[in-house]
Amino acid sequence: MAAAVSAAVSLPSSKSSSLPPRTSIISTERISFNKVPLYYRNASSGTRVVLIKAQITTDAPAKAEKVSKKQEDGVIVNKFKPKDPYIGKCLLNTKITADDAPGETWHMVFSTEGEVPYREGQSIGVIADGVDKNGKPHKLRLYSIASSALGDFGDSKSVSLCVKRLVYTNDQGEIVKGVCSNFLCDLKPGAEVKITGPVGKEMLMPKDPNANVIMLATGTGIAPFRSFLWKMFFEKYDDYKFNGLAWLFLGVPTSSSLLYKEEFTKMKEKAPKNFRVDYAVSREQANAKGEKMYIQTRMAEYAEELWELLKKDNTYVYMCGLKGMEKGIDDIMISLAAKDGIDWIDYKKQLKRSEQWNVEVY
Ligand SMILES: Cc1cc2nc3c(=O)[nH]c(=O)nc-3n(C[C@H](O)[C@H](O)[C@H](O)COP(=O)(O)OP(=O)(O)OC[C@H]3O[C@@H](n4cnc5c(N)ncnc54)[C@H](O)[C@@H]3O)c2cc1C
Ligand SMILES: NC(=O)c1ccc[n+]([C@@H]2O[C@H](COP(=O)([O-])OP(=O)(O)OC[C@H]3O[C@@H](n4cnc5c(N)ncnc54)[C@H](OP(=O)(O)O)[C@@H]3O)[C@@H](O)[C@H]2O)c1
Repeated sequence: MAAAVSAAVSLPSSKSSSLPPRTSIISTERISFNKVPLYYRNASSGTRVVLIKAQITTDAPAKAEKVSKKQEDGVIVNKFKPKDPYIGKCLLNTKITADDAPGETWHMVFSTEGEVPYREGQSIGVIADGVDKNGKPHKLRLYSIASSALGDFGDSKSVSLCVKRLVYTNDQGEIVKGVCSNFLCDLKPGAEVKITGPVGKEMLMPKDPNANVIMLATGTGIAPFRSFLWKMFFEKYDDYKFNGLAWLFLGVPTSSSLLYKEEFTKMKEKAPKNFRVDYAVSREQANAKGEKMYIQTRMAEYAEELWELLKKDNTYVYMCGLKGMEKGIDDIMISLAAKDGIDWIDYKKQLKRSEQWNVEVY
């Protein structure tokens, strides 16, 4: 399967460091990781709200069985286990939120030399250096892969993550730093990192290049979708050319914490008919009723359109990020389905069976 990266992309950063990639690049234009200021003030805003009237529910329409993406040949899981992890090297680590954002999120690239073969939508485990309070090695933490299978340098020899630094104040008023996220966000180029996996099949992409793919992300939940979208819009394959609709909803607290916005803007320029992106900036935007702009609030503005898409057999929804988003999204779906007399919970079960409703929240 020949492939080539066809887009030049820069990652915004206020602090970044990188090692030059040592491996050969097969991209037609090289991806550059430039230092550019990160201040996104143009998050989309809108006030159109569609009110949905509930009706008597009937049986959900039957869904057609499909070829399972989860049975797909060649999807590797658990090649590397915690007892014998792959030792990668940090090639680049860059902060992708602005200095005034609430919290820090970093984009990092690790070398794999092609030894950790993953697909878009999978995760890897990371074992932080050091020991826990009992003197035992730290347990692994899972991270969604943020790069396409080709990796950010287009040579299938690296894997990228999008990691939020966890820092919180405990009941005793002490500041506590999460073990693995801080280990990762502090990694310097050249440092070694213990990698396990890859794992996960829930979030694998649909095989159909003409599918409608609706991606719902909060914060770092964007990771698998960056991976999908690079494959769809920045890379060229002999056997895959995306010609469906990719529709991304991304929820973040402030415009200074919007993730990968420059890349999504480039994708929109490249494929205006095939890519839509809508942001929900919770602490800066509100709907017409003055409610906080969560991802589900933004989705409600497109209620009719989303529901029409969801009735199609080639529409796939993916959700990733905060656990709380799942209920919020269910709530709007209940009213949408009820409008057609459909019980959402039954319908969702069918969508899940046909792998059209895919959720990885935490
Ligand atoms: C499938 C999957 C994919 C994931 N992908 C990503 C990803 O792409 N990017 C990403 O950043 N994360 C991701 N995560 C989360 C990641 O695995 C870690 O849980 C996260 O980085 C925190 O780990 P840590 O070692 O830094 O924190 P830890 O040292 O493990 O501390 C976390 C613990 O701190 C406590 N805690 C946390 N916040 C508070 C609080 N406010 N008040 C009190 N106690 C608190 C809780 O007990 C929590 O379990 C993913 C998780 C899963 C399951
Ligand atoms: N595969 C996975 O399972 C996976 C992958 C990646 C990340 N994650 C997890 O996803 C989470 C992302 O957190 P983050 O810190 O990166 O995000 P973040 O930057 O804090 O952004 C989260 C956004 O979601 C909003 N939000 C809060 N509650 C919500 C709700 N009930 N419904 C909808 N939106 C809501 C927040 O709004 P306010 O803060 O303004 O309320 C904020 O705008 C982390 O817990 C991470 O571990 C899981």
